[in-house]
Order: sequence, then structure tokens, then C-alpha cells
Amino acid sequence: DGGKPLAGRHLLVTSGPTHEPIDPVRYLANRSSGKQGHAIAAAAAAAGARVTLVSGPVTLPDPPGVTVVRIETAREMLAAVEAALPADIAVFAAAVADWRPATLTDEKIKKGPEGPPPLALTENPDILATIARRTADRPPLVVGFAAETTDVIAHARAKIARKGCDLIVANDVSAASGVMGGDRNTVHLIGRDGSLETWPTLAKDAVARRLVARLAEMTATP
Ligand code: C5P
Repeated sequence: DGGKPLAGRHLLVTSGPTHEPIDPVRYLANRSSGKQGHAIAAAAAAAGARVTLVSGPVTLPDPPGVTVVRIETAREMLAAVEAALPADIAVFAAAVADWRPATLTDEKIKKGPEGPPPLALTENPDILATIARRTADRPPLVVGFAAETTDVIAHARAKIARKGCDLIVANDVSAASGVMGGDRNTVHLIGRDGSLETWPTLAKDAVARRLVARLAEMTATP
């Protein structure tokens, strides 16, 4: 069906940042807006997929026709992703915090004469790598994103092997690119075989539609 190429498929998308609490009122976060991930969820729903969108805190409206699971932390995102399996396609567009504060205090940390408190960090689970390396319920097509500020393509090639995913969508998120929080994106598609395709700069929803069309082609049953 040309109009609904993903009919009957379940597509799982992660989007947005994660928030990692320091104490009840403070958290670590990043500048991800969720625009690209939400646009992919919307485009997949428009292409006929059943879509589960696992989203960190964003100010965007829920895309129409999509089941949205809201989480705050990386560990909650991993649990929500695992709960949403099985999926035919998984797209990991979230900007997951790499680290979280090692300890979470129940009370607000007070400012005092002893100066700033130490902020010890511990590693978060890598959701993409965890899912891509599963043996049970691994989605047949696992797509990662690579947001880099330098050597975008070289880093993405290393990432595809390290994470065990099938495709990487790499983009330049240096301040000069205006991608973080902006409406446009310039992406490179890198395949497991090392293939590279660079797309022109497009609106994030156009990137989403084109990516969804590509994912439908890659999973089409003859
Ligand atoms: O290693 P890096 O953060 O650059 O990898 C980016 C890719 O990995 C993105 O697809 C992102 O959603 C995913 N990721 C993840 N869990 C993490 C870190 C990154 O799913 N803890």
C-alpha cells in the first residue's frame, strides 16, 4: 500500500532529553527539544504504523495517533522501551543523559559555608546498545542517532559497530549548525556495511518523512 507503507507494523521511537535528578528540585539535562524524534513518530503514524513514542520531558504536543509514554530518567526510558517490545522497527532519537548523579538525596541540598557539594556521576544504561544487543525480541531494524560536533561521519561509523545497530542517522549539532532546538537538520545515513548517504538540509519533519519512507523500504516484504 503506497499510502500506508507501514500498515501493520509497530514502530518504537525514543525522543527528547532525559532529566537526571540531583535532589528533589534539581536535575541534569541537555538541550534536546525532541523535535526530530516526535516528527519521526508523527511521520510513522501517518505511514500507517502503530507507534509507541517514549519521550523525556519536552514542550511539544503529542503527535496525533501515537501512544506516548512519558518518562524522566534514562533508567525509566529503558524500562518503558523494554515494556513496549516487540517492535518491527526501533528508532532511538532521544538525547539520553550519559551520566546521572551517583546519589539522589531526599532533601534539597543546602547552600552552606563548606562551599559547593561534590557532584559524583555514574554511567546510565545505553538504551540503544542494550536493545540492539538483545537476543530475545530484538527489533529487526534498529536505528540510532549520532549527534556530534566534530568528525560527524567518522564517529558515526565507529558508533554503528559499538552499538550493534543497523543504521545510524548522524547529524552535526555544533552551535553553528543551529540543529539543537532548531527546525532544520542536515543528516547522513550510515549503514552497517559502511555505506554513506548525505541528505540536503531539510525541515525536521521532511527528514522524518524521508527516513520513514526509507525504513518502510528496508523492511518491505516482497
Ligand atoms: O553514544 P551516543 O550518545 O553518541 O549515541 C547516540 C545514540 O545512542 C542515539 O541513538 C541515542 O538515542 C542512543 N543512546 C541511548 N542511550 C544512552 C545514550 C545514547 O539510547 N544512554
